[in-house]
Amino acid sequence: MTNKATGDTRVIIFDTTLRDGEQSPGCSMNLEEKLFVAGGLEEMGVDVIEAGFPIASKGDFEAVTEVSKLVKTSQVAGLARATQKDIDRAWEALRHAARPRIHTFLSTSPLHMKFKLQMEPDAVHQAVIDSVTHARNLCEDVEWSPEDGTRTEHDFLCRTVESAIQAGARTINIADTVGYTVPQEFQALIEMLFNRVPNIDQAVISVHCHNDLGLAVANSLAAVGAGARQIECTINGIGERAGNCALEEVVMALRTRPDAMPFHTGIDTTKITKASRLVSTITGFPVQPNKAIVGANAFAHESGIHQDGMLKNAQTYEIMTPESVGLNRSTLVMGKHSGRHAFKEKLKELGIDLNDNQLHDAFARFKDLADHKKDVFDEDILALVEDSVVRHNDRIRFVSLGVVCGSKGPQRAELDLEVDGEARHATAEGNGPVDALFAAIREICPHEASLQLYQVHAVTGGTDAQAEVTIRLEEDGKTVNGQGADYDTLVASARAYVNALNKLLVKRAKTAPERMTA
Ligand code: KIV
Ligand code: ZN
Repeated sequence: MTNKATGDTRVIIFDTTLRDGEQSPGCSMNLEEKLFVAGGLEEMGVDVIEAGFPIASKGDFEAVTEVSKLVKTSQVAGLARATQKDIDRAWEALRHAARPRIHTFLSTSPLHMKFKLQMEPDAVHQAVIDSVTHARNLCEDVEWSPEDGTRTEHDFLCRTVESAIQAGARTINIADTVGYTVPQEFQALIEMLFNRVPNIDQAVISVHCHNDLGLAVANSLAAVGAGARQIECTINGIGERAGNCALEEVVMALRTRPDAMPFHTGIDTTKITKASRLVSTITGFPVQPNKAIVGANAFAHESGIHQDGMLKNAQTYEIMTPESVGLNRSTLVMGKHSGRHAFKEKLKELGIDLNDNQLHDAFARFKDLADHKKDVFDEDILALVEDSVVRHNDRIRFVSLGVVCGSKGPQRAELDLEVDGEARHATAEGNGPVDALFAAIREICPHEASLQLYQVHAVTGGTDAQAEVTIRLEEDGKTVNGQGADYDTLVASARAYVNALNKLLVKRAKTAPERMTA
């Protein structure tokens, strides 16, 4: 067991991108996308993949079931509240996994017990024992989390943690549910548990930090210093509100500063960039350019002084290499003369593995792009592969777009889509080409969702750069983000809108299975 008591310095990485990450507003993934992400997490060496909350919806149940069947080396966890029904449902989905884990939780803070649960502390304590005992009767590996753990009274936290371990929990996950704690305080809290809970050596102490004060990574690292040996995190730090501890940041901090923090993980960090891009494309959450580790500028050196230093010795301004996070300095330059073989080699270099059909589609889009763009950069290939491959099961598919635009007006869009396999065509006018395009989409797929965000950014430099468009739609208080990339900004916009609509269909299916039409 990875434990402070055994002197182990290995930190278990528990990824909850598919559960807590997917809970963030606007973020939803369909089954195929979740399987893609799960495959990437396993390939990266994530120890535990939390695949979903099986009782929450049919879609979540299906996702946990299928991820359980797919994943072989990582453990697969499913979340359950402290009820038999939740736990049974979680087990029903997880039982297919090679290494299943039931993760059950209950609030323990005075505020949550009084207002959310409306339960007395003694009843909460008993429910912890009952739920963990029930989960252990089904599954060897049980994790228990005191929700809002950081705002829980210490005596009560010690009492529930001790009882959960006694009932069979192997991992105790202290949740900073509202991102309230600060590093010194959290470190002291974990130390307090090690000092006061008599059976603490029989469990791994885990931490689950939210980022409301921007401290999720710092808090997680402080907890590891105090004895925690599991960190719960998400790719790109996505998650409820301000998100969760970012996997890439916490892992690279441990890798880069073993002198200050003598701990290690089993993560293959060279897979980080790919995982980040995949999650960004699938969720439609762009990564801010200055984001640590995975932002577009994270390894860019703009000022003359920095560039000069870099040329003399990269370590002057670089504390980790781009290669260490999978940003390879390219060896193969791609362009319109590159053939299928070179394209395959490039994909290999980028760590992308496609089946024959996917390769066929991706190569066709690459050729089209190369016909319009002199230099095709790695970023371009990643954008187009993710855009075309990940989405091939979508119900609404972009086919083609013609636009009349310019100052002479009227601006007009002629759009062809495929909806559930059926070809659909619309022509619409609008105040500008984007307005005309969106009107054409609404004609083919009538919907009430309102447009909350329309954002364009260039994937690379140059006037022939591909545009990456992000669209956010809102319907009945639920938001979804869609992304699309193309060398034509309007085509990218159409792809992004269609992607958002597909996500809306998934979201509707989760909450009201009968509403299945766009
Ligand atoms: O933030 C939280 O408290 C959670 C628990 C379910 C661990 O996500
Ligand atoms: Zn959480």
